[in-house]
Amino acid sequence: MNISVIGTGYVGLVVGACLAETGNAVKCADIDERKIEGLRKNILPIYEPGLEPLVERNQKEKRLTFTTDLRDAIENAEVIFIAVGTPPGEDGSADLKYVLQVATLIGRHMSRELVIVTKSTVPVGSAAKVGAAVAKEAKFPFHLCSNPEFLKEGDAVEDFMRPDRVVLGVESPFARRVMSEIYAPFVRTGKPVLIMDISSAEMTKYAANGMLATRISFMNEIANLCDKVGANVDFVRRGIGSDSRIGQSFLFAGPGYGGSCFPKDVKALVRMAAESGVRLDVLAGVESANDRQKSILVSKVRSALGDLKGKRVALWGLAFKAGTDDMREAPALTIIAGLLESGVSICAHDPAAMDHARGLLGNRIDFAETNYEALEGADALVVVTDWNEYRHPDFERVKRTLKQPVIVDGRNLYDVERMRELGVRYHSIGRPSA
Ligand SMILES: NC(=O)c1ccc[n+]([C@@H]2O[C@H](COP(=O)([O-])OP(=O)(O)OC[C@H]3O[C@@H](n4cnc5c(N)ncnc54)[C@H](O)[C@@H]3O)[C@@H](O)[C@H]2O)c1
Repeated sequence: MNISVIGTGYVGLVVGACLAETGNAVKCADIDERKIEGLRKNILPIYEPGLEPLVERNQKEKRLTFTTDLRDAIENAEVIFIAVGTPPGEDGSADLKYVLQVATLIGRHMSRELVIVTKSTVPVGSAAKVGAAVAKEAKFPFHLCSNPEFLKEGDAVEDFMRPDRVVLGVESPFARRVMSEIYAPFVRTGKPVLIMDISSAEMTKYAANGMLATRISFMNEIANLCDKVGANVDFVRRGIGSDSRIGQSFLFAGPGYGGSCFPKDVKALVRMAAESGVRLDVLAGVESANDRQKSILVSKVRSALGDLKGKRVALWGLAFKAGTDDMREAPALTIIAGLLESGVSICAHDPAAMDHARGLLGNRIDFAETNYEALEGADALVVVTDWNEYRHPDFERVKRTLKQPVIVDGRNLYDVERMRELGVRYHSIGRPSA
């Protein structure tokens, strides 16, 4: 099938590469010329495990092409996925500007009956707006589909190739047939393709992210309480996660959620509810709990080191989570701002996000080539992102290199008993200190 994906970011690039991998002829289009120029040479604008070989192989076999010519991408497509950004507007609602720009172009340049798929996360009612923008210019029939994306950055290729489910909001048998055909290779193990109305599909994406963000904020608040009353959130997590009604995933306490999705989608959902005259008190609480949580590591560094003025801290991890270079809304940014404000100097390391961080932070902090280098002359190590390579470091070397043996662990990576044996002054989230 001839498929075009408009918007070649974290989502569009993964979608395009995976759809090419199953034999479709895919054009990925973007207005960012540098990005497209790089992609043509297999230089990826993002770090995403497993993506590069897919892009390279499918480009070589000519199933995947990259273009800035949106008109060409639209004219030849049987199916167009819209995967441009939907950043929060000033009032927190999702800004549909880019989605609607693309919809207008699709209407103008389409040259046959086609399916228009919204992959971007958009509030309920957006498909109707997309439909209206296309219809203004269209000379051919078209079919709308809302196909929210549930991939996780860091596991995006795996998630797209083997989804837990595919959600398709459709309103015509034509769209249903075409979309079911496209997704058939990805659900051969029997994972469900859930066909529903468009509004429900749009809502499903927000509800999923709202629920996941809720679990994270809930556990963070329980962890903060554990800290105060002397309980250990590791035990509590296992204790509740073993209940089949609750399950184990998304129950790790940490420095707050970040990334391009949870913060903006929770905001947009709260806003959508307010516009509909409905109260979403739980989610409003989730959002403020997360804002507070992002500063928790600064408080922990302060209680570990006392007066922070003139102190130096090594920061392990900048990306909002392991497996990605994405720094959008990353807790590291809040932590860095808080530490700098308190007069701390910082040397940071991240296996993937240092280029992005340099762009955002310039020379306000130092960057180290290796995680051990970051420790030199530092009064404490602060672990912010749960990268695999930080999980089992050479603790003797860490202790030897730091000026004081202090670790503040925002991801609960290390064993409290082991830290005690090593003589490290160790603080984590919701667990006893050593
Ligand atoms: N990142 C994720 O993990 C994730 C997961 C699920 C859903 N989503 C949703 O998918 C959408 C895209 O997210 P992303 O993280 O890929 O964003 P992104 O910022 O990485 O990519 C968006 C791309 O769209 C391009 N673009 C903007 N306007 C354009 C236009 N008029 N024509 C062509 N290209 C244009 C930009 O240049 C950019 O390359 C958002 O709605 C997001 O909420 C993201």
